Amino acid sequence: MTQAADSRVAHLPTTQYFCPSGDYDEMWRRADQDPEGFWGEQAMDLDWFKRWDKVLDWKVPYARWFVGGKLNLSYQCLDRHMKTEVKNKVAFYWEGELGDSQVLTYAELYRLTNNYAAALKRLGVKRGDRIALYLPMIPALPIFMLACARIGAIFTVVFSAFSGQALADRVEDVEAKIIVTSSGMHRRGKILPLKDNAVEAAKRCPCVEKIIVVKHTGHNVEMDPSRDVWLNDLLAGCDEYVAPEHMDSNDPLFVLYTSGSTGKPKGILHGTGGYSLWIAKTMQWAFNTDAQTVWWCTADIGWITGHSYVVYAPLELGLSSVMYEGAPDYPTLDRWWSIIEKYGVTILYTSPTAIRMFMRHGEEWPAKHDLSSLKILGSVGEPINPEAWLWYYRHIGHERIGISDTWWQTETGGFMISPTPGIQPHFLKPGSATKPMPGIVPAVLDAEGKELPNGQTGFIVIKKPWPGMLLDIYHNPELYQKTYWSRFPGYYLPGDYCMKDQDNFLWLLGRADEVIKVAGHRISTAELESAIVGHSAVAEAAATSRPDEIKGEAIIMFVTLRKGTPPSVEIKNELTRHLRATIGTLATPEEIFFVNLLPKTRSGKIMRRLLKAVATGATVGDTSTLDDGASVDEAKAAFAELS
Ligand code: PRX
Repeated sequence: MTQAADSRVAHLPTTQYFCPSGDYDEMWRRADQDPEGFWGEQAMDLDWFKRWDKVLDWKVPYARWFVGGKLNLSYQCLDRHMKTEVKNKVAFYWEGELGDSQVLTYAELYRLTNNYAAALKRLGVKRGDRIALYLPMIPALPIFMLACARIGAIFTVVFSAFSGQALADRVEDVEAKIIVTSSGMHRRGKILPLKDNAVEAAKRCPCVEKIIVVKHTGHNVEMDPSRDVWLNDLLAGCDEYVAPEHMDSNDPLFVLYTSGSTGKPKGILHGTGGYSLWIAKTMQWAFNTDAQTVWWCTADIGWITGHSYVVYAPLELGLSSVMYEGAPDYPTLDRWWSIIEKYGVTILYTSPTAIRMFMRHGEEWPAKHDLSSLKILGSVGEPINPEAWLWYYRHIGHERIGISDTWWQTETGGFMISPTPGIQPHFLKPGSATKPMPGIVPAVLDAEGKELPNGQTGFIVIKKPWPGMLLDIYHNPELYQKTYWSRFPGYYLPGDYCMKDQDNFLWLLGRADEVIKVAGHRISTAELESAIVGHSAVAEAAATSRPDEIKGEAIIMFVTLRKGTPPSVEIKNELTRHLRATIGTLATPEEIFFVNLLPKTRSGKIMRRLLKAVATGATVGDTSTLDDGASVDEAKAAFAELS
C-alpha cells in the first residue's frame, strides 16, 4: 500500500485556491500550544446563556468542553438571527423529487420550530427524553431536530433506507418514547412505506408511546388512534413560543448509530457546546462561507454529514441551503445540475460515489447547465480517487475552483482533515484531504504504536481532544474505551489507514478494520454476518468487500448452507431479500458465494484476509496457519466459477 500511495503522490498535478488571506500555520500552532486560549476565543462567537468556567477538562478518554457553560443549539441556529437581517433570509430551498418546492426563511423556520417544540411538549416530552426521527429529506426533519434541541430532548435520526427491524434495534437501544415518521417517501417514482416500518418497530419496542406521522405522500395510511397521530392535528393550537432550555455545554444533543467491529451498531453520543462550535468553525474554514453562500450538501440527514452540514452548521452561520429529497439522477441525468443552476448554488458538497456515477453518465449532462455560480466544491465519505477528483475539478468546477476533500467520521462531529480556504489558500493534490484543521494533531503509527516517517502507511491517530469529539458511546462506556482508546493508549483511533507525504499532506486510504464503505455508507462485516445467519437456511457466513468502480466498495458474502438446502439462485435471492429486510437496502450484497467450509485458522477464526484476497482475485499469500487448505481452494474455485 505504501508503494501505491507514494506513486500516486508522485504523479499528481497540483492546483491552487483563490481565497482570502490568513495564517493557517500560525492558527494551527496556536490551537496546538494553547488549546484553552484558542478555543475560548473561538467560542465567543456563540451566544451563551452562561459563560463556561473552564474551556477544557481532559481526562483520557473523556474530553469535556466549556464546562459550566449554558447554551441551546436551536437558539444558535434561529433565535439569535431574529435580531439581524438573517431573519428574512432563506434558510432552506427545498426541492422534492416530484418537482414540488418550498422556500423557508429563518423567521418561518423559527416559528415552525417553536410550534413543533410545543407539540412535543404537549405529548409529554421532557428534557432528556429520547425521540427517534425516521423521516425522508423533507423540511419536517430539520425542524424536528431543532425542536428537540430546543426542549433538550435527545434525538436519534434513523436513515430512511433502514428497514423496520433496523429502526427497532435503534429505538430499543435508545429507549425512544416517540417515533416521528412520514406517511411514506418518494424514491425514483415509487412510494416507500415508512409508516409501516415505524409500526413494525413500535410493535417490537414497548418503550414507544406514540408515532407522529407527517403527511408527505398521498397514499392511504392506516392509523391506530391510540398510538398514531398526524403532525397536522398535533400542531393545531401549538402556535406559541417555547423558551429554549438552558442546556449544559456537555449535555447530550443526539445519538447517531454507526457501524463498528461488533454485530450491533453503536450509538455515538454528541454533546452541545463543543459540537456546536466545531461544526460552525470547520464549515467556515473548509468552505470559506459568507453571507452570499448558497450551500448544498447532498448527504442524507440520516448520516452525520447531514446532521452537521445540512442542518446545524449552515443555520448557525445564517446561510441559505438547498435541500433535495430525491435520487441524484431522477427523473433525468441532469437533475442535480439543473438544481445548481436554478438556485445559484455556490458550494456543492457531495460524495465520491456520486461523482463517479456522474462521471459514468458523461460530462454532457453537467455541460447543459450554467454552473458558474459555484465557488468551491467538496467531497466526503470515502477516499476520492484522483480520476474522480480531476473529473469533478474539470467538468463541474471548470478548472477554476478548488475541492475541499474533508476527512472525518460520525464520531468526530465535524471535519478533521481538509483544505482550509477559509483561512488561507494552499495547494491541493487530487486524492489527498491535505492538512489537519486547527486543533487536530494527527500522527501515523505502525502496529506497535511507533510514529512512522513520512511516506509510510500506518494507522492514523489523533493525539489531542477537539471540541466536536463524541461524548461517549450511548450506554456503553466500555465499548467506547475499547474501540477508540485501547490500542494506542491516550490517542483516539479512527480506524483508517493513512500516509503523510513529503509535503506533510495526509492521504486517507480507507478503513483498517472490518468496516466496509458502500457508496460512502458505513457497514460492518459483523453486522452483515449476524443478519444473514438469522436466516434459517444459513449455517455460517463471512462478509468481505471488493473494490467497486462506482460505490468504492461492494459487499461480497461467503455462505455455508445448512444440510437440506442446496445452493440455488432462489436461495441467493432469498438471502439478499433477507439482508435488505433485516438491515436495509444498503446491505444488498454484490455477490453471495456458497461454500462448504469457510477458511479458518487453527483456533477457529475466519481468515478474512484470505476471503478478501479471493473476492478481489488477488494472490492468497501465506496460508500456513489455515486449518484446512482445501477450504481456500474451494473459496477460490467458488469465486472463479461464479464471477
Ligand atoms: O474511512 C473514513 C471514511 O468514512 C469513515 C467515516 O464514516 P462515517 O462515520 O459514516 O462518516 C462519513 C462522513 C464523515 C472514515 O473512517 N471517510 C470519510 N471521509 C473521507 C473518508 N475517507 C477518505 N477521505 C475522506 N474525505
